[in-house]
Amino acid sequence: MTKRILSGMQPTSQLHLGNYLGALKNWVKLQEEPDAHCLYMVADLHAVTVPYEKKDLAAATREIAAAFIAAGINPEKSHIFVQSSVPGHSQLMWMLATMAQMGKLERMTQFKDKAGKNAERAGLGLFAYPVLMAADILVYRATHVPVGEDQKQHLELSRELASTFNTRYGADFFPQPEPVITGPAPRVMSLRDGTQKMSKSAESDMTRINLTDDADTIAKKIKKAKTDADPLPEKLDDLTGRPEALNLVTIYAALAEKSREDVLKSFKGQQFSAFKPALVDLAVDKLGPITARMKDLMSDQAQIDKILAKGNEKANDEAGPVIREAMKIMGFFPG
Ligand code: TYM
Repeated sequence: MTKRILSGMQPTSQLHLGNYLGALKNWVKLQEEPDAHCLYMVADLHAVTVPYEKKDLAAATREIAAAFIAAGINPEKSHIFVQSSVPGHSQLMWMLATMAQMGKLERMTQFKDKAGKNAERAGLGLFAYPVLMAADILVYRATHVPVGEDQKQHLELSRELASTFNTRYGADFFPQPEPVITGPAPRVMSLRDGTQKMSKSAESDMTRINLTDDADTIAKKIKKAKTDADPLPEKLDDLTGRPEALNLVTIYAALAEKSREDVLKSFKGQQFSAFKPALVDLAVDKLGPITARMKDLMSDQAQIDKILAKGNEKANDEAGPVIREAMKIMGFFPG
């Protein structure tokens, strides 16, 4: 059976190592599966649910597309497109919004985090964010959604909305999308606090490694990463209670495509003064070519725009019939 794969990233500032190891790297792997049909999207409609710079949005959209390609997404195999260029997402979102319970949306941890103390004043777009995500997935009748762990709750809601639609209208129409949360690093943590996830919104740039960082910046950030005074243990269990140490070992393992157990076998008994330079070398070795390719791609804007135009056309071709069918199932006037 063909796997229909859909995922997306927001064009809010640069991508970081969490985005790469938690999601993008897995997208590339899935693209190589013989039975995969992949759609990878720049989620610009989601990006405007929080304050943003109007003048930077289009450039950030291109930059995310460049990062997809630089990391190994092949536009000949996968459709790379822009969410706002496919009206079907917003149309299906409205239909699903009629089935989404406000109580459930209120319990979404990302909404609670982003809305902060003043949820009353949060925008409707931020509140409905997960409903748009469900529409992104279901408008392609996607079966698999590769994401990092922080998106798990949103995907659960997508599954529920698919079932609610099918049950309410007595139609076996939307498949249940499977979350694909795999690899050693589904949750990469901040370099400064091993209990917080690495994120674009953290104030200090020292908490994350961006895909646009050069070798010196990567070295500086890893050298300054928080650690503890103990040497690395032999067993993974012995990293319990040492979140920063566990995070660096996890990052090493994900970049080297090894298990964390194997990484500890190689570095057991060593201090961070020895482990960190090895991690710097590995990170520069793995990320350097991606950064260089991104720069190259960004210097040819017309080429990126061409790739996105083609992806947008394909995505619209696929979303259109699903919207028409969903409207028919819901009983709309066949206009
Ligand atoms: P976004 O742009 O915040 O993040 C993009 C992807 O990166 C993953 N990720 C991480 N993985 C591991 N460790 C981290 N520290 C880390 N930080 C981010 C995210 O889990 C995500 O997979 N709502 C989505 C975008 C989206 C989407 C969709 C995804 C819109 N529509 C439909 C899947 C399907 C988001 O905000 O991702």
